[in-house]
Amino acid sequence: MNRKIFSAFSIVVVLAFSLALVACGGGKSNKLEIFSWWTVGGEGEGLKALFNIYQKQYPDVKIINAAVAGGAGTNAKALLATRLTGGKPPDAFQLHAGLEVEKYDPEKYVLPLDTFYTSEGLDKVFPKDLLSLLQYKGHYWGVPVNIHRANILWYNKKVFADNKLQPPTTWDQYFKVAKALKAKKIIPLAFGSKDGYEVGHTFETVLISVLGADGYKGLWTGSTKWTDPKVTDALNTLKKVLQDVNTDNSALTWDGALQQYFITDKAAMMIMGDWVNGWFMSQNYTGYGWECVPGPRIYDGLSDSFAVPKGAPDMVNAMNWLKVCSSQAGQAAFNPLKGSIPARTDVDPSLFNPYLQSAMKDWTSEPIVPSVVHGAAAKEKWAAVYKDVMNTFGTKGDVAETQKALDQAASDNLAM
Ligand code: GAL
Repeated sequence: MNRKIFSAFSIVVVLAFSLALVACGGGKSNKLEIFSWWTVGGEGEGLKALFNIYQKQYPDVKIINAAVAGGAGTNAKALLATRLTGGKPPDAFQLHAGLEVEKYDPEKYVLPLDTFYTSEGLDKVFPKDLLSLLQYKGHYWGVPVNIHRANILWYNKKVFADNKLQPPTTWDQYFKVAKALKAKKIIPLAFGSKDGYEVGHTFETVLISVLGADGYKGLWTGSTKWTDPKVTDALNTLKKVLQDVNTDNSALTWDGALQQYFITDKAAMMIMGDWVNGWFMSQNYTGYGWECVPGPRIYDGLSDSFAVPKGAPDMVNAMNWLKVCSSQAGQAAFNPLKGSIPARTDVDPSLFNPYLQSAMKDWTSEPIVPSVVHGAAAKEKWAAVYKDVMNTFGTKGDVAETQKALDQAASDNLAM
């Protein structure tokens, strides 16, 4: 073959090969589109830190940040489902460890990561509890970047000190503190409910506190009945809690409520996950303290992972993203900014602030339960009904009607 014919032949072969790769979703687009809901302080910075590491290793790849605003993925999850079913997937997407994956019909649309776990030795670097939470229908679907805790009572140290108050560790103490604050015209609890998951979020933390770890876990497996009088107690407690929040809560997100009320000393507390810690850091705000939500010390856990769609536009770039996310360096850069503890067990604790160091200890010493609002405890269909029922409770406050609806949701979903 002369040289010209040979090079023409090579070009044809390379072209055909590339086209074949693109057709089966394994092409090289030189882009990496990452889909998440991390847009605000703390989480935005954490994501950027992962991008920076990726960019250093793969300087030719253009990263597209396709984050969709809305806490707990309220808007992002619906859009992602449409993109997956409509054949327009991103290269990788944020996914909570646990039953959330069921929403995306994983056997059809998501790449199982079992061989990736083996080749990267990931089954040796994550805690056992997390590894089992990450499996659905016998496969791994996502690679975890972190572990978050949902049931923290954040308090404003100045407001507490000025009013000679101690952070409450029981509900009785909580309501005494709330009364004292109201007498001084301070809002007891900063609350934002704009994204539609926050009443359900607060309620899961109250359920955990009132039912204990096993009682709460049983609600999602059928061994605790939703008709249990303790669920009634929990609803009554939540009702009282919600009477003491800022009245404009439906116009505010969690970070908006912090901005407006907490860091301005107009409110004294907030019940929210520890992404609040990331947000505080992003604002250089240090006036906060923390306690577990009143009740026994139980870790309401969740984990953010990244998954790859079966038809990812650039499979090579997507798998390299998972490598960065699961690496020690990636987790060491991401988590101190995100306000979460690493999913890996071998990241140096001295990189983390005092809150996160305390969370690391709590993770190994307290009973762990799965969050429902953040994808771990129940299938998305059930979690969605739960959130709707709780939002109605947030406006109407009807305990009996709500308990009945929650019980109905359990029968509908446990039977499936
Ligand atoms: C959770 C997610 C966290 C944080 C939070 C607020 O669902 O796991 O990483 O982003 O929502 O949006």
